[in-house]
Amino acid sequence: MKILVTGSTGLLGKGLEETAAPSDEIVGVHLRDYRVKDPRARHLLCDVRDPEAVERLIAAEKPEAVVHAAGLAAVDHVEKHPDEGRASNLGGTRAVAQACRKHGAFLVYISTNAVFDGTKAPYSEEAPTAPIHHYGRIKLECEAEAAKAGAFAVARPILMYGWNHQVNRPNPVTWLYEKLLRAERVPLVDDVFENPLFDLQCGRALWAILRKRPAGVFHLAGGTRVNRWELGLAVAKAFGLDASLLDRVDSSHFPAIAPRPKDTTFSTGRMERELGVRAMTLEEGLGEMRRAMGVGG
Ligand SMILES: NC(=O)c1ccc[n+]([C@@H]2O[C@H](COP(=O)([O-])OP(=O)(O)OC[C@H]3O[C@@H](n4cnc5c(N)ncnc54)[C@H](OP(=O)(O)O)[C@@H]3O)[C@@H](O)[C@H]2O)c1
Repeated sequence: MKILVTGSTGLLGKGLEETAAPSDEIVGVHLRDYRVKDPRARHLLCDVRDPEAVERLIAAEKPEAVVHAAGLAAVDHVEKHPDEGRASNLGGTRAVAQACRKHGAFLVYISTNAVFDGTKAPYSEEAPTAPIHHYGRIKLECEAEAAKAGAFAVARPILMYGWNHQVNRPNPVTWLYEKLLRAERVPLVDDVFENPLFDLQCGRALWAILRKRPAGVFHLAGGTRVNRWELGLAVAKAFGLDASLLDRVDSSHFPAIAPRPKDTTFSTGRMERELGVRAMTLEEGLGEMRRAMGVGG
């Protein structure tokens, strides 16, 4: 299958590449001018906010399907700069959906758990949405925009972890790992819950969507529900780092950041039943990360 991935150098794009079959062809696009080495994909530069550039790219590459993951995903930045967040996410989704419709490509739009307010977990795909910050509201508008592609599915990954490209933002696990390695103290909240998603599990679920082309929404998440404090303990244990550096706090410790939904834990039933992808435990995902470092276990 030939697919085009926007935001190919982010964690999701990396997981998608690392779970591709040898016969799959991946064209990836990202924004900033740098090169990532990867024999599995051809990475190009394209700003998805530019509808003409997106149209030219999809016309030239003729992918069977497009995974649209590009956009500004930093919640606190978008809270302070909602217009920038809207231009990046909504502008990009509009351009990609229009080009998919014109060229008959199936669109997989990558949304988020931030479309929920976190008061009624666990969330199934049918649960009513109720975002509580700008980023969540913008991503929900993007889901509606993605529908204009005609043939489409929406995948909502929850908090993702895995080894990211150095040039991209860290995720909570790689961030914690670096902090603990430098023996820095880390305050972690005990009142925000998710069931974190390993990037390779996310990749496998996305390939299943790409091959089966189901319509509708899919929640992608792991098999272990934790708060950030418990996530920190699991990271320290997995990598043999000092858990006594972790300070247990609640959200009132961080008054300056955008309010986070308290518990967006996802139901993983539809993912497991219809995509045939098992929800990996946190221990399994962290174990795979450790093995990828070549330190056994
Ligand atoms: N990470 C999570 O925990 C999580 C959770 C839920 C949902 N999601 C969703 O998953 C998607 C991917 O997230 P991620 O964490 O993999 O992303 P990420 O690490 O933040 O990377 C963002 C990617 O998008 C590209 N990009 C940004 N603006 C662009 C533009 N205007 N044109 C073209 N490319 C652009 C970046 O390119 P450059 O590197 O060149 O800047 C990079 O490849 C996002 O839609 C996010 O909402 C992520």
